[in-house]
Amino acid sequence: MFNQIKEKALKEIAQTKDLKKLEQIYRRYLGRKGELTKVLRSLKDLPDKERREKGQLANQFKKEIDEAIKTKDREFSGQSGSAKGKGWIDVSAPGLRPPEGHPHPISLAQRQVEDIFQSMGFSVVEGPEIENEYYNFDALNIPKDHPARDLWDTFWLKDIDLLLRTHTSPMQARYMEKHQPPLRIIVPGRCFRHEATDASHDVQFYQTEGLMVGRDISMVHFKGIVEEFLKQFFGPEVKMRLRPGYFPFTEPSFEVDIKDKKKNWLEIMGAGMVHQNVFKEVGYPLRKWQGFAFGVGLERLAMLKYKIDDIRLFYSGDLRFLNQF
Ligand code: FA5
Repeated sequence: MFNQIKEKALKEIAQTKDLKKLEQIYRRYLGRKGELTKVLRSLKDLPDKERREKGQLANQFKKEIDEAIKTKDREFSGQSGSAKGKGWIDVSAPGLRPPEGHPHPISLAQRQVEDIFQSMGFSVVEGPEIENEYYNFDALNIPKDHPARDLWDTFWLKDIDLLLRTHTSPMQARYMEKHQPPLRIIVPGRCFRHEATDASHDVQFYQTEGLMVGRDISMVHFKGIVEEFLKQFFGPEVKMRLRPGYFPFTEPSFEVDIKDKKKNWLEIMGAGMVHQNVFKEVGYPLRKWQGFAFGVGLERLAMLKYKIDDIRLFYSGDLRFLNQF
């Protein structure tokens, strides 16, 4: 008789397709008024020996049915482990919060740079990371045999006459070809140079190019705008200095340095007044327009602002570093 009950129960369990039916089966066999429970209860009237034997058997079957129900229950609740498998959800339990991401420190710096320049009337434009030789060099008054090409150790793309841009300056020419002055733009983006890495140089880094062209834009405008930018970015205490520099596409050219916390000067940008040859190349009439351009290193800005002493940390993917932002 026990055997029949067990076989019937196991068959029903195997065939159930939902949790509700499974619960009914449980009640039908193992519940307070369940078939097996009733049989177990009736054993008490039997003689000792028989009671013990049948009791053992009934308990074993009970266990088997119970196991089969639990296994099925886990199947329904999608859990293969045995820890839970209750098949119900506590809707009042607080949810698990998925970990929230946050911007990378270079993105933070870039956003802030964009906000500041936009507030001064500059538009944000972007250019290609894969450039051709013309925009990266020729259009910027750097002909093939010009020694200034040595300033940028270039990653050339084999056989297709393209390269990874070494600076964001190519966008000066690309933009001016399509737009007439007066104009004010910044160009944030990634640049690549085949050079040895150290605490302040990496093979990939971000620059933001600035370009302002009009009838009588002078160095005074440049100094005023860059100073205002640096004050908004670092705070009013910031100390900057201009040094003479050399770039073939600006005349005169200079470098801008900022004082770091150890009172050392760190170069953050190259700049100058746009060379008339660049205007000529993009089709502007000679001497009609003048303007300034600059290229600032975003990592260098972020390093000074957040007191980071090694540029390589930015690309390390080290969460101990990244989680601080
Ligand atoms: C240039 O790239 C010029 N195109 C800047 C410019 C634009 C001059 C417009 C005149 C007019 P330079 O090579 O100095 O210049 O780089 C500019 C800035 O980019 C540096 O001051 C530095 O902040 C950053 N930079 C350059 N090379 C690296 C590097 N390997 N790793 C990190 N930052 C770099």
